[in-house]
Amino acid sequence: MVKELKYISLSNLSIIMPNRPYVIFIASQKGGVGKTTIAVNLGTALRYREYQVLLIDTDVATYSISSHLGLKDAENDYSKAINGKIDVKEAIFSYEPLDLNLILGNQEAEEIEENADKINRFYSQVLKLNYDFVLIDSHPGPFSENMAKYINDVVILTTPDAASAKSSAKLAKYCEKHRIEHRLVINRIGSSKFELETEEVERLCGDIASVIIPEDDIVQESNTRHKPAYMVNKSAPFSLAIDELARIYMLKTGKPMDTEPEADRQSKKSFFQKLGGWSLGSK
Ligand SMILES: Nc1ncnc2c1ncn2[C@@H]1O[C@H](COP(=O)(O)OP(=O)(O)OP(=O)(O)O)[C@@H](O)[C@H]1O
Ligand SMILES: [Mg+2]
Repeated sequence: MVKELKYISLSNLSIIMPNRPYVIFIASQKGGVGKTTIAVNLGTALRYREYQVLLIDTDVATYSISSHLGLKDAENDYSKAINGKIDVKEAIFSYEPLDLNLILGNQEAEEIEENADKINRFYSQVLKLNYDFVLIDSHPGPFSENMAKYINDVVILTTPDAASAKSSAKLAKYCEKHRIEHRLVINRIGSSKFELETEEVERLCGDIASVIIPEDDIVQESNTRHKPAYMVNKSAPFSLAIDELARIYMLKTGKPMDTEPEADRQSKKSFFQKLGGWSLGSK
């Protein structure tokens, strides 16, 4: 289901200005509900359609995209870029199998004292890069006030339990306060016979779900194989739900390109090489 555009704020200028990346923040109030999994797979589904995607791991405490994808720690990581020690471009790596661009975390991440100047510097550089989508994986809880003006859309992720659903309502209110579009996505449906009915989750969250993502073994398989589930099996129920989410953003941004690039990707010069960066190998 595609919701109507509620807000025309500064952050929605990318719809009017098609060259500006569309920034999606993947959020949950409660931890462990699947933010990293959804961020990585949404990025993958968009890459499969030839969109240029930058995925940023801002969760310095548990920086998990690298372990999800089986990548080495990045020396030039998010903390250095946000602290202004390096340019954003220097922190970008390519996940080779997809040419999916990443800014990763690092075990030795510097302490981040986030302030408006740092956020402005970081995101004004990001927005100048030639991406269709920028996806932000985060720690549990809301985005910082300083970031609000850079975000176009927030995925509010919940699992079908009361604690997660109730806390999602809080996050939705926070988005409303900042006049940022947001959509409810319920993840891991079917994981327990004691879980809440979808209608009850929606009632507690105060919103209708845009997408419902099932519990699927493909996700655990993908963790073991250090590959996005979408790459492991594009037709798995989980991947089909991710497709639905990707489609919402394709339609919203007015950039539908439903192509399957796999066959000719090898022959094309990598987008990332064109950007002048380098690639991270697997562990
Ligand atoms: N649809 C799904 N089916 C099966 N397992 C899932 C699904 N979604 C997420 N998981 C599993 O749930 C666990 C938590 O997922 P993930 O790490 O993506 O959550 P998170 O919200 O990023 O956590 P944190 O708040 O710690 O950053 C992982 O083991 C992941 O494999
Ligand atoms: Mg995570």
